[in-house]
Amino acid sequence: MDLAQIFANNQLWIEEKLKTDKDFFKNLSLGQSPKVLYIGCSDSRVTAEELMGTKPGEVFVHRNIANMVPNTDLSAMSVINYAVSHLKVNHIVVCGHYYCSGVKAAMQAEDMGILNPWLRNIRDVYRLHKDELSGITDEEAKYKRLVELNVQEQCVNIIKTSDVQKAYKERDFTVHGWVFDIHTGKLIDLKIDFDNILKEIMEIYRII
Ligand code: CO
Repeated sequence: MDLAQIFANNQLWIEEKLKTDKDFFKNLSLGQSPKVLYIGCSDSRVTAEELMGTKPGEVFVHRNIANMVPNTDLSAMSVINYAVSHLKVNHIVVCGHYYCSGVKAAMQAEDMGILNPWLRNIRDVYRLHKDELSGITDEEAKYKRLVELNVQEQCVNIIKTSDVQKAYKERDFTVHGWVFDIHTGKLIDLKIDFDNILKEIMEIYRII
């Protein structure tokens, strides 16, 4: 891609926005009050705002390799803290995607250097769900299921934070697990039973 094209695209985008609303950027500069925090994969094919059809100001976004929420990752934890306790979002979405290279790498025996500790979080998800996964003989089906289970476990990691436990008590607040299917473009709600997971794990993870 020609980087000069990006600046040309940006100019066209500005003109397009101002054509429909001359105060578009003035209004953007006033602040943000998104209702949704989206945590997704950095994969260039999974474009967050574009696939959801959302406008600037509507979604707070965090992306990293394989849409992870490691408990000690300062970046993910800061994003959650800011979105939940300051912006007061009502929803957190973890959106994985089928054919995620990060998840694939965690299924293989290969030394990936600095990526090893990051991908180990996915290997831990595999270990937690080993009984189910080892029962799946089709490799592609197993790969897709690990993508879904990884989303579920990252949702659980979100529920472990004090910001989220507080928000759940105080207001209308839900965590959602979604998967984007690259083959069809479809966004799939995994319908993770947030209330039930909460009940099951709060005995261990309750901190407020
Ligand atoms: Co990915």
